[in-house]
Amino acid sequence: MNKADTSTSTVVIAIDGPAASGKSTVARALAARLGYRFLNSGDLYRAITWGCLSHGVDCREAGAIAMAVGNSRVELGCDGTEYYPIVDGTDPRVHLRDAAVNANVSPVSAVPAVRYILSAVIRAQAQGRQMVVEGRDIGSAVFPETPYKFYIDAPVQVRQRRRRNQGQTEEIAQRDLIDSTRSTDPLTIASGATVIDSSSLDVAGVVNAMLEKLREHGLLGGIGILPMVPGSNRQDADAT
Ligand code: DC
Repeated sequence: MNKADTSTSTVVIAIDGPAASGKSTVARALAARLGYRFLNSGDLYRAITWGCLSHGVDCREAGAIAMAVGNSRVELGCDGTEYYPIVDGTDPRVHLRDAAVNANVSPVSAVPAVRYILSAVIRAQAQGRQMVVEGRDIGSAVFPETPYKFYIDAPVQVRQRRRRNQGQTEEIAQRDLIDSTRSTDPLTIASGATVIDSSSLDVAGVVNAMLEKLREHGLLGGIGILPMVPGSNRQDADAT
């Protein structure tokens, strides 16, 4: 990673954290302010889970999942500045938060072959680009070499409340347990990551704290910072 010339080199800002910590919201807002592209890697894991479910794969069977994902074509489309997953030529975005996907995405994403395949897709996309990438293992396993790492956290009660406000019944504590105890690339605070608790800050507060850190790291020397997009400061509305 080249710190000096950010106009042509690969720059990845890695943002990890547990479910409903607000990382997607702040990652999207940060990308907009920097003029970078945004990739939500959880959507890739959700898309693959949807693909397995729609082919009738038993999501308790690691071998069956590995075979199904190995036989799938996983790509990224780009909607303006934001990437989205495409599985076997289909855009599954409307299904990514279906109850069945919510229930199965953590076990599917614990399968090592799935992680290997999706991490390769993410790394290939970042080549030569400036991107904000969010997930569970972005700073620890996908881009361990990036100097720009954040871990967004919030107490489990706050995160559960955010999901309820979104009209979702997702079992946050159970997801935390599976994501942080799986054997391959578990959710963890990457070495060198700046930890930010989002429970007492609004989106602009978190983004400003990140910009401050990036400035300390020398990333923002040559680039202009855009203003917040109107309406993007609501954390509880869509925190993921
Ligand atoms: O961020 P999210 O809740 O949409 O992620 C859905 C699941 O995907 C989550 O339970 C763990 C998995 N995931 C992962 O294992 N690694 C990532 N980099 C991103 C998500």
